Amino acid sequence: MKLASKDLLGMKDLSAEEIRYILYQAEIMKQILVQGAKKTPHLQGKTVVTLFYENSTRTRMSFELASKYMSANAANITASGSSVAKGETLIDTAQTIDAMGTDVIVIRHSMSGAPHLIAKHVKAAVVNAGDGMNEHPTQAFLDMLTMKENKGQIEDLRVAIIGDVAHSRVARSNIHALRKLGADVVLGGPATLMPKDIELMDVKAYNNVDRAIDGADVVMCLRLQKERQQSGLLPSMREYSKFFGLDEKRLALAKPDAIVMHPGPVNRGIELCTGVLDLDRAVVNDQVTNGVAVRMAVLNILAKRSNA
Ligand code: CP
Repeated sequence: MKLASKDLLGMKDLSAEEIRYILYQAEIMKQILVQGAKKTPHLQGKTVVTLFYENSTRTRMSFELASKYMSANAANITASGSSVAKGETLIDTAQTIDAMGTDVIVIRHSMSGAPHLIAKHVKAAVVNAGDGMNEHPTQAFLDMLTMKENKGQIEDLRVAIIGDVAHSRVARSNIHALRKLGADVVLGGPATLMPKDIELMDVKAYNNVDRAIDGADVVMCLRLQKERQQSGLLPSMREYSKFFGLDEKRLALAKPDAIVMHPGPVNRGIELCTGVLDLDRAVVNDQVTNGVAVRMAVLNILAKRSNA
């Protein structure tokens, strides 16, 4: 199957069929990784550049490993170590990378829409690795791969997304994708941290997180995005943890076999207590593992598409 776009910019733009296709390709890549293969010829002769204007551990490293595992030429640029620090514009930087024959540019930026902007100005495929509060599509793919591995399917799952939904690109991408694949999504968190366009999202939302978690198959806690808060949106950290954090008592409201997810990095004791993180059904590290398979699938699909 061929994706409609040369780029992967968000779940909002993908059809259910395209999401299922990428998820299936990620399952194939996971099998390759499980067999221990860390050098495949998939991207021989291709060049992947990661361009990160915001910090990252998981996303950046997994894109780099995915590129190297598939034999691509891989390079990384951070804002502080490049000509961006000398005042070069985003479009000029992207076109410079493009002019060197890059096949895929993976970008993270604090500005919502930055990947969409550069995608219009380069020949390379562009992957959104997180743009402001907008989307983080490969995170949603790795989350869904983890749900599918644990629950067998996405359709009809009840997924509770808890915490700072308003500032979360992870939540936004998951909501779009999960709804397209037929899951029920229930949001829980402080009214001040709920998105303004919630009524357009086709989800239920509760300020009482106990109601959101009740009967859930999946409890996904979000990172409290301290760097994107305006003053006055939050109670104290202690109050946030007490009223909105996930502890064993609150988790008992979900189904007995519910899995606990978090995109990371976790603020321990705020979004989740350590006791919950230590449970076997807390699958945070499995999410990280699946990130490599998902990014292999995405790079492979987009790099091959540019040949077509
Ligand atoms: N989940 C996520 O995007 O983590 P990083 O910020 O470490 O990439």
